[in-house]
Amino acid sequence: MLPLMHPRVVPVTTPGGAYDVVIGAGLLPSLGPRVAALCPGPLTRAVLVHDAALPGPTVASAAESLRSAGARIEQVGLVADESRKDWASAGELLRALTACRLERDQPVVALGGGLIGDLAGFAAAVYRRGVPVIQCPTTLLAMVDASVGGKTGVNVRIGEDLLKNMAGAFHQPRLVLADVATLGSLPDRHLRAGLAECIKHALIAGSVPGAPAGMLERTRGAIAGVLARDPGVCVDIIAWSVTLKAAVVASDERETAPDHAGGRALLNLGHTFGHAVETLPGQDLLHGEAVGLGLIAAATTSQALGLAGTALVDLVRGLIRAAGLPDRLAPGADAGAILDRMGHDKKVSAGRPRLVLPREAGRAGVHADPPVEAVRAGVRAILG
Ligand SMILES: NC(=O)c1ccc[n+]([C@@H]2O[C@H](COP(=O)([O-])OP(=O)(O)OC[C@H]3O[C@@H](n4cnc5c(N)ncnc54)[C@H](O)[C@@H]3O)[C@@H](O)[C@H]2O)c1
Repeated sequence: MLPLMHPRVVPVTTPGGAYDVVIGAGLLPSLGPRVAALCPGPLTRAVLVHDAALPGPTVASAAESLRSAGARIEQVGLVADESRKDWASAGELLRALTACRLERDQPVVALGGGLIGDLAGFAAAVYRRGVPVIQCPTTLLAMVDASVGGKTGVNVRIGEDLLKNMAGAFHQPRLVLADVATLGSLPDRHLRAGLAECIKHALIAGSVPGAPAGMLERTRGAIAGVLARDPGVCVDIIAWSVTLKAAVVASDERETAPDHAGGRALLNLGHTFGHAVETLPGQDLLHGEAVGLGLIAAATTSQALGLAGTALVDLVRGLIRAAGLPDRLAPGADAGAILDRMGHDKKVSAGRPRLVLPREAGRAGVHADPPVEAVRAGVRAILG
């Protein structure tokens, strides 16, 4: 089967590996030949780790394509549930890779959202100290963010607290194949959650050399088309985000750039607030929904610090609403509890949150030690 439109290819170059992100509609049937072309010898075996909730034909299309390229396939279906993105699931996956004697040059193919990509990527990073991983994202969030850049990870539970991505490895994929046809079965709520990351990218684009020009305006114009699942608009918005992320990770693969240089830390815009509210009892928020709220909180913090005007807060809230995302928490959330949780975020340096804060015109910067009153103003802006 031919792809429905000519795919877009965004090259990613990092010290840890160079690869293409191929974006288009109807690409899964070309997966096998594309993977085979990357192998040093014939493609004899691959492990296909897929989201168990994907429609049968999506999984079959990927499996058939890999088989047609000569590979024997081991299929592992996993449930995409944050509470199961843990050591036990990673261990199960490592047992499956070991049981089928996957060799060092034979790939793990991840077919699913960011959760499956993170788990499969982590297993591929540590199995035999690293086997190739191919990312085939099936959510908008994974297409625009999680599948690119090489971060993999699992959550660690301490008592009642699920600490997200506390363990992980950098492991760049050999190929990312984003087939927007797979978005056809993605529930609306998850499509909207992916838009939050697109909005985040648009809000930092002015501070990222190499990002597409006019990304904020173009993203604003694309939101309705994405919600209508127009394949061409989806390909466009994914390509802009991937181009931006490729530029960021090329210069700062491991998030070690100093604060003034921005680098990969800029991608955390909205995430320190977002992580604090994501697992708040009584909220039931998706990651992207929490990030959307985090973007509003971060813009409000900028305003409180005099770094931005009300126009920016209005712009961000307007984009979040246009994407159909919540712009306030459900009633009952407590500002103190959120501030407390922010102290536990990974992006905390020496006990103080390091916040990425947006400014006008799609620019953003890292702030090492924002005054608590400004942060509290940000939290108040999203209380129900
Ligand atoms: N590695 C990174 O750089 C990075 C970046 C952002 C987020 N993440 C991680 O990604 C995860 C969130 O990813 P996500 O939003 O893609 O969520 P997800 O993988 O949990 O998928 C969301 C839901 O959609 C379902 N689903 C996925 N694709 C589908 C499809 N095509 N049709 C029907 N249903 C489908 C899944 O079963 C699940 O219920 C989190 O664990 C987060 O930590 C990683």
